[in-house]
Parts: sequence; structure tokens; C-alpha cells
Amino acid sequence: MSYEPFDAVDVIRTKRDREELTKEQIDWVIDAYTRGVVADEQMSALAMAIFLNGMSATEIQQWTQAMINSGERLDFSSIVGAGKKIATSDKHSTGGVGDKITLPLAPLVAVYNVAVPQLSGRGLGHTGGTLDKLESIPGWQAYLSNERTLEILSDEGAVICAAGSGLAPADKKLYALRDVTSTVEAIPLIASSIMSKKIAEGTDSLVLDVKVGSGAFMKDLDYAQELARTMVRLGTDAGVKTTALLTNMDTPLGLTVGNACEVEESVEVLAGGGPSDVVELTVALAREMLLSCGIDEDPAEALADGRAMDKWRTMISAQGGDPDAALPQARETHTVYATDSGVLTRLDALSVGVASWRLGAGRARKEDQVQAGAGIRLHAKPGDTVRAGEPLMTLMTDTPERFERALESLEDAYTIGKEYEPQPLILDKVSTEQQ
Ligand code: URA
Repeated sequence: MSYEPFDAVDVIRTKRDREELTKEQIDWVIDAYTRGVVADEQMSALAMAIFLNGMSATEIQQWTQAMINSGERLDFSSIVGAGKKIATSDKHSTGGVGDKITLPLAPLVAVYNVAVPQLSGRGLGHTGGTLDKLESIPGWQAYLSNERTLEILSDEGAVICAAGSGLAPADKKLYALRDVTSTVEAIPLIASSIMSKKIAEGTDSLVLDVKVGSGAFMKDLDYAQELARTMVRLGTDAGVKTTALLTNMDTPLGLTVGNACEVEESVEVLAGGGPSDVVELTVALAREMLLSCGIDEDPAEALADGRAMDKWRTMISAQGGDPDAALPQARETHTVYATDSGVLTRLDALSVGVASWRLGAGRARKEDQVQAGAGIRLHAKPGDTVRAGEPLMTLMTDTPERFERALESLEDAYTIGKEYEPQPLILDKVSTEQQ
């Protein structure tokens, strides 16, 4: 048996007793957990101690570095155009309902000669996953070798694919454990989880979309601001120019929640149309990504003139997808009608996200399959006038026995009243310069 310099019980006790972990303890515990020497139940206790007692800025930085060191680092420095290295910029969202922004955003930013590596994940729980959405396009492949990822990035300027298993493997193991031990919503753990993957990926700049509201991990603005500041500091200290927008997630983004239906809406945005909130956020995030690479241009132009759509088509084709193929449709639908007349004053993101998940658009366990056609189409958004008897939303699934549980989640999902107070979509910005 190999010699271990620490004992997991001592490390847990240190955090339980609100003391600071040393760099040596952190390096060891992350490495030993990845090797299987620290057991899941010990890591669960440590995660709960961190959840309850927090971590100092130094501990968070060392924890993040230890997770980066658990795997490989990618290198995008070989991407060149006209003899010059091309800057890479990535976007990461903390997860929301109807959040399809990566789909129009990646090709849009690539139009401006910025390379966009979007190493993405799958949905777990009520928030959707970018790969699940894109897999509804016939032929599209999520899994690429590192060599092919670099090749597509060089040729097309953007690639959206599955993050390889070599990137921060400690986080993969720990995130799955946090998911089943109610220790996800802790700032040190969320910040280190997201930033370890992004720093290991090797992007030059990063724009974070930190969601705030009922459909997000962070329910209130103060907490979200602290998370944003923590992540921006981690990125900046690692030499990644990092900016965070804090954005409203009290109501779903756009008019679709699900998989194929979100791809369809993203294509509408790329064609110069689409719901105004999806367009506003796509353009705002694209602008931040361009600014972080020193490019001062208005990305709305490339949506309007079709250049972003051209990029989308080549990007999807490069991964085997057919951008012209019909998208899957659910076999069964069920419409929910407004019970009163008035103004829709509230449409709760969490309730709609859970309903879509129960219809089959999301998974409860990572092994589950998602249904490409499942989800919800919204016919009204907060601020819209509705009449009693008019359709409010259409539920879609291949398995109609799922309607009952989805409808349960929608029982208190909306309010029809008189006065509507419009909410801003972009609530705040935290950037490297403010640190
Ligand atoms: N997304 C991640 O990658 N990690 C977290 O901890 C939360 C959201």
C-alpha cells in the first residue's frame, strides 16, 4: 500500500472546526479522492463541512488549482489566422430554463475572427444541457477527440462539443457526489467547479452568465454577486480575462423550453428573428466576448445580415449534423389554457423547468436518455395580455403518461393580474477591472 501523507478524517475535522485547510491538505485530498483513496462518504462529509463553514479566498484558489491539476490542460495557442494567433473566448452559464444562448452565440462571435471553444455538458435536473439540445439535430456528434476539436475550431471558428473526460476529472467525480448529497449550492464549490474546467480548457477570455432567480442555483442577487466576484477573481488570477453578467432567471428565456424546440428557436435568432429576450442576451454576451478580445463591434449586425447563420451551418455540418433536416417532434401534446383575463404578471422559471424535465426533456440520473421532442412552448410571457380560454402553453412528450406530473408542477406556475412591473434582463456586471 502506498504511503499517504494525510488522513481524510483529519482534513474533514479541520473544516468541520472552521479552520483553514493548508495547500498540502487540499492538494492531497483532491488527488487522493481522484485516485479513489478518499472514499465518497468522506468527500461527502468534507463537501458538507465546506457548504456549512465556507472557504477563504486562498482556500478556494488552491482547491481550484488542485482540481485543474487532476487532469489535462488544453492548448489553443496553435489557432492562427493570417499568420497571427487568434484569441479564444468562451461563455459559461450557471444554468437556467430555456437557456439556449450558446447555440446562436458561438457562431455569432466566430464571425468576428474570435475562436469559440464551447466544451459543454448535459442537463441534470430542471436546467437543460447544450449537448442534449444539439443532439436533436440528425447526425450531430457531441464527442470529438482533442485533435478534431482543434481542427474544427481552426476551420470554422467555433466548436460546441462534450468536455473530454481528461479535463478536471476531480470535478466530474465531486460534482456527481454533490448532486446526491445536497451540497451543490455552495459558492466555493460552484466557483471552483466551473473555473477549474474553464481554466484547464485554456481559453484566453471567459464571459460568465450568472443566473439569478427562481430557475437558478442563486435565488438572490447578493449571493449571485458574491459567486460572480469569486469566479472573476479566480479567472483573473489564472490569467484568463473574465467578465460576468448577472441575468434574470425568474422566468424562462424565450418561448421554448426543451431540446429540439430550443434548437428551432435558436435558428430563428440566427435568421434575424426570435424572441427579444433571447436576442438581447445573445448580443450582450457576444459584445462582452468581443470586448474581452479587444474588438469593438456591434454583433447585432452579423445576426441581421446572415453571417452568423452561415457560420452555424458550417459548424453543425463539421460535426456530422444536417442543418436542413427536420427536427424531431413529440408524438403527443397537451395545451394549458388561461383561466382568467388580464396581464400575465408571473411565469415561474423553476416550475416550467421541472415540468419540461418531467415531460422527458431532462434526466433524473446521468444514464437516462432524453426525448428530443419533449418540452414546452410558451404562448405568452410576463407582460403579455391574455384572455380566459386562450392557450398559455403547449406541453410536448412522446409518453403521455408524463402529462399528469408535469401539470402538477405547473399548478402555481403563473399569475394573471392587472399590473406588471417589467424586470431588466441584465442585472449587473462584474469584470476583471473591478477586482
Ligand atoms: N455548474 C458546474 O459546472 N458546477 C457547479 O458546481 C454548478 C454548475
